[in-house]
Amino acid sequence: MIGKRMQDTINEQIKHELESAYLYLAMVAYFRAEGLDGMATWMEVQTQEEVAHAMRFFNHINERGGRVELRALAQPQKDWPSPLEAFKAAYAHEQFITGTINDLLKVADEENDNPAKIMLQWFVSEQVEEEDAAKKIVDLLTRVGDSGHGLIMVDRELGTRKAAPASGEGEAE
Ligand code: FEO
Repeated sequence: MIGKRMQDTINEQIKHELESAYLYLAMVAYFRAEGLDGMATWMEVQTQEEVAHAMRFFNHINERGGRVELRALAQPQKDWPSPLEAFKAAYAHEQFITGTINDLLKVADEENDNPAKIMLQWFVSEQVEEEDAAKKIVDLLTRVGDSGHGLIMVDRELGTRKAAPASGEGEAE
């Protein structure tokens, strides 16, 4: 059975993951309003991934006889000054999430909770991919600068992102 401290920390992480989904969904709305449908599609897939992340933690608590507790989500920002600023915010958010995964690992270590440690290994690799994906788009948009043509090209490219399989496996991209 999962210990109380580990359970509390994972419940807080479920909130962080759902807040990530909420933030990226706000970005979907922003990109749609800006007519950048490719970026909106990319963020829509990202939103689904974040829900899948939350469910991994949700299922972990349930599988170990614990009790999931859903917490209030913070209202996300509505607008960004530019697509570049939106992706910069996404990159910063992923860095924040990496920090929360590291904190979880610390708790799992202190609690000598091996199942949690094993479960968290997937997230360690996932965060490397999450940060890398966001950083690459930030770099691309920085290079594009004020070029309208460049922005359209990036938008088209990001629109090719495919949704993860329903199993939740392989959602990292
Ligand atoms: Fe759930 Fe994007 O980290």
